[in-house]
Amino acid sequence: MLWTRVSVAASATAAVEWTVATDPALADPVAGGSVDATPGADHTVHVAVAGLRPSTTYWYGFRAGGDRSPVGRTRTLPSPDGPLERLRLGVVCCAHYATGYFNAYARLAERDVDLVVHLGDYIYEAEAKHERWNRLHRPRGRCLTLPDYRARHAQYKTDPDLQALHARHPMVAVWDDHELAGNAWWDGAAGHRPLTDGDWPRRRAAAVRAYREWVPSGLPDPADPYRIWRTVRLGPLADLVLLDTRLKGRERPAAGRRPVLGVHRRDRALLDPAQWEWLEKVLAPVAGNGAAGRPWALVASQVVMAPIHLLAAKGVVGRRLGAVGGGLIVNPGQWDGYPEERERLLRLLRLLADRGGPALVVSGDLHSSWVSQLALEDGRGAPVAADFTVPAVSAPTFARALAPKVPGARSVLERAIRRSNPHVAWVDTAAHGYLVLDVTTDRVEGQWWHVDRVGRRTEVEHLAATWSVRRDDPRPVRG
Ligand SMILES: [Fe+2]
Repeated sequence: MLWTRVSVAASATAAVEWTVATDPALADPVAGGSVDATPGADHTVHVAVAGLRPSTTYWYGFRAGGDRSPVGRTRTLPSPDGPLERLRLGVVCCAHYATGYFNAYARLAERDVDLVVHLGDYIYEAEAKHERWNRLHRPRGRCLTLPDYRARHAQYKTDPDLQALHARHPMVAVWDDHELAGNAWWDGAAGHRPLTDGDWPRRRAAAVRAYREWVPSGLPDPADPYRIWRTVRLGPLADLVLLDTRLKGRERPAAGRRPVLGVHRRDRALLDPAQWEWLEKVLAPVAGNGAAGRPWALVASQVVMAPIHLLAAKGVVGRRLGAVGGGLIVNPGQWDGYPEERERLLRLLRLLADRGGPALVVSGDLHSSWVSQLALEDGRGAPVAADFTVPAVSAPTFARALAPKVPGARSVLERAIRRSNPHVAWVDTAAHGYLVLDVTTDRVEGQWWHVDRVGRRTEVEHLAATWSVRRDDPRPVRG
């Protein structure tokens, strides 16, 4: 799907011509046509192009009135029937325009990947309240209405590094909470106060409509704009299984500040019943049926799947997490707050691993980098899959959120994490960046690229860690 947006008078309709070609000069066109940019879609343009060759790089451009768009590059998915030796994916999340520059997007744009997967927080709906923030959000207040969300998306799309990323690579995206409101679930959000912010379903609909207009993410069910869970077949190597762990089926999480109120309830719903039905089919370990016919199932989850328990260290742990008792802290918004559903999913992944088509989970939302081992609670720690957690592009890091003012707090925090989480193989709580996944039949390698800073635009990045899992062993190995 090709995307652009035309700047014209609010009430105008503009005719837009599009061209797909085999060369950057668009001299050798292979497809083209015309489409209207209308006020009803905020003058965004989506073109679904059919008939292109698999695993092929194309260039595309638009014309409206006398103007030409920049030329974009994209790449088609591999054919399901292969052959295909390797595939490279860039994975990103959590790009906060006001708190930092999108250096991670710029560096990933330069890298050689076949596809970018965005795990959500493509925008932040927050107000522009901090004077020390690098850039101010538009509009200034929190996004509440359709014009607000449209204006916020439009602002993000002016960022040159995000433009570079889209101009260079195709993207598959799912939303997390901040495309709507902080810590959202289906029936509400911690960042939504009904008395002052109005009706939640109305706000939710406005946010989703603007997202649909401004982020070309495909619509797996044309009758249901809220459905984002879907499978993207990555040729003969893998199925990319995109979950919705944020909105559709999510029950209100336990409240962190009132720890006794139900943190121990284990049966909260995270996925909706239709999603479970689809997931059981797509992950069913039957030859030729979904991921089982592929070497890998890459499961994209907005929120971290691995358990993370923190023993509260004085002065380190902030107000965001909920105390379980005995000084033990969990984040009830992650899968930790939905333990029965996690166990149900891990049983499915276990079956897949037993039949030789294992899963690898990639997650975001936590603004930090993690490599964790997933295991069934009743499986005596036998490994099921690894969880690779992607750092934020520019949103404030985990270390900064939890330990903002204490000297040496980051090392105290990471020591506390290691002490109470033996299944965590590696963690970096203070860096921004992105993940590159290199997928072959026998192993998936993850490279965590960290950028030097987000306070200004910079080209400095470094390879912070490389971890891989083999097809016959779900334990992550460094290097
Ligand atoms: Fe985020």
